[in-house]
Amino acid sequence: MMEERLNRDRAIKKWIFEISQNIKNEQKSNLKVEQKTTPNDLVTNMDKWVEKELIERIRRGYKNDRIVGEEGFGDTVSEMHGTVWLVDPIDGTLNFVLQNENFALMIAVYEEGMPVQSYIYDVPLDRLYTAIKDIGVTCNEQPIEPPSNRSLGEGLLATNSSILTKDRYKDIRKVTRKSLGLRLIGSAGLETVEVAKGSIVAYIATNLKPWDVAPGILFMEELGLKATQFNNEPINLLDNNDIVFAVPKAHKEIMAIIN
Ligand code: IPD
Ligand code: CA
Ligand code: CA
Ligand code: CA
Repeated sequence: MMEERLNRDRAIKKWIFEISQNIKNEQKSNLKVEQKTTPNDLVTNMDKWVEKELIERIRRGYKNDRIVGEEGFGDTVSEMHGTVWLVDPIDGTLNFVLQNENFALMIAVYEEGMPVQSYIYDVPLDRLYTAIKDIGVTCNEQPIEPPSNRSLGEGLLATNSSILTKDRYKDIRKVTRKSLGLRLIGSAGLETVEVAKGSIVAYIATNLKPWDVAPGILFMEELGLKATQFNNEPINLLDNNDIVFAVPKAHKEIMAIIN
């Protein structure tokens, strides 16, 4: 089983490097940007191309597996039986379009509902973060050690912007007041990585989609960190979730404040 995961690991890394070359080389003038539901919900021809390329490679090598992709080129999955891949071709599309930095390509592999391999690739910085079940977490092949278990008052916190802009989340803002300060990147994947590295003690975000949270769960598990919904229940990969990724101390404090 481990051999199979390591073979898959080599294949995934190769695909990520090949495909991301094109994201970097593509002339920004050729970018076609479309609005999905709202002016801040965008998709580009590059999001679609990356997802199609990844799905084509997965299907070629792993024909019995099922794939969930943000842009809709995958399968409809209503239970997590067998091997399921979750793909977010560009996490942080708004940043990709407006900043040309702070975005990532993300892949997660689940076996019988259990996370076994996760990849978060910071494309502009060429940093590949991986988590493999029972092996650990790396950045460009260098091991990442578990971060120190700090409390809210000893660290920085990241959230998504809805927590600050939508009134229904105003109670959650109590958490932000207890921390040393707030940071917003605009890519769930890169914010997850900040928790894994210990740069922030927690990432709190609302209404994330399965592909936004799927890789992060294994990063947290492998480092002894927490990944839950706001109500402390496990994250549900078949639905949208309000999530907390955090070191245990900060997680316990956050649960006490919001529940
Ligand atoms: C978004 C980013 C963002 C988060 C949104 C996500 P996308 O992903 O991760 O940080 O706040 O909820 O949808 O759409 O750019 O892949
Ligand atoms: Ca999107
Ligand atoms: Ca995303
Ligand atoms: Ca995306």
